[in-house]
Amino acid sequence: MRAVQVTEFGGPEVLVPVEVPDPVAGPGEVLIGVAHADTIFLETQLRAGWGQEFFPVRPPYVPGGGVTGVVRALGEGVERAWLGRRVAAFVTGSYAELAVAAVDALTVVPDGLDLLTAAALVHDGVTACGVVEQAGVGAGDRVLVLGASGGMGTLLVQLGRARGARVVAPVRTAAKAGLVRELGAHETVDLTGTDWPERARAALGGAADVVLDGVGGETGAAAFPLTADGGRFSAHGAPSGGFAPVDAEEAGRRGITLLGIQHVRFGPADLRRLTSAAFAEAAAGRLRPVIGEVFPLERAAAAHTAIESRGLLGKAVLRG
Ligand SMILES: NC(=O)c1ccc[n+]([C@@H]2O[C@H](COP(=O)([O-])OP(=O)(O)OC[C@H]3O[C@@H](n4cnc5c(N)ncnc54)[C@H](OP(=O)(O)O)[C@@H]3O)[C@@H](O)[C@H]2O)c1
Repeated sequence: MRAVQVTEFGGPEVLVPVEVPDPVAGPGEVLIGVAHADTIFLETQLRAGWGQEFFPVRPPYVPGGGVTGVVRALGEGVERAWLGRRVAAFVTGSYAELAVAAVDALTVVPDGLDLLTAAALVHDGVTACGVVEQAGVGAGDRVLVLGASGGMGTLLVQLGRARGARVVAPVRTAAKAGLVRELGAHETVDLTGTDWPERARAALGGAADVVLDGVGGETGAAAFPLTADGGRFSAHGAPSGGFAPVDAEEAGRRGITLLGIQHVRFGPADLRRLTSAAFAEAAAGRLRPVIGEVFPLERAAAAHTAIESRGLLGKAVLRG
């Protein structure tokens, strides 16, 4: 089969199309003909060699972890009913024509949802649903979303709004601000000026009950003081190069609940539950992943370049 490998740590050019033997479904597994594989920012960071302490990988490897497709073959002990089903799964190595998944890791894609849209929700939908659940976003909350223009952030904006929160998003460009407002943010704030935290506070109408930080670094650090006493601060993102450096003692003193990347690493049962929840919301028309461009598998390097250039309006998805 065709696949794309990270041949060594480096820039997008280390993503190289290769021919590898077809994988075979073992006991309790299925073989999926990949229709689409999602891409997430983390995959660009891992390709560059970042994050080994959280996500150890060694080249050469096939990157990616989320697919949608059709079950083509069954391993021993798997019910025949799975054959031909449209499914989504978390796998090891999704930049490929075929992927093997444990039957326990499959979620059926509902009839009302196409495989492209479903693929865009595999990671982002699960994490976004998990983040709003863990941060307890509810009606009347003032919610600040950092990274609102991204694959997961665009979903957090919609989920926050649907839960009745007041959603404010600091955003870098006018086009992305327009998108984020269209998706439900009450207000956006220009992130390029140093006074954005004061403007965000004014837009929120006070301190934030919940800060959902998908950016980290200095931006995340500047958002921490905006958190209300007794509020929640989720530091789940690090596209800036590091998670938000927050003072745990101060958080404790002020009664702020700190959540982090470890809170969005779910076990198989939660992954299936959250995937189904995201798919149900999308099938009902209440959640819309924003897809900026679909790249053929062999152009995975171009997909990574697009993610890193931060120019796409929406996420990059691969076609298997
Ligand atoms: N997707 C998931 O399921 C998942 C799971 C766990 C953790 N996370 C973490 O959440 C973060 C966002 O993930 P994503 O997949 O949604 O990524 P994404 O679609 O690429 O979005 C990245 C977001 O971060 C901003 N950003 C990108 N580079 C930046 C930089 N150098 N400095 C400041 N802001 C930057 C972008 O805003 P601009 O418009 O300004 O470019 C965009 O809003 C990542 O750190 C990721 O590791 C994601």
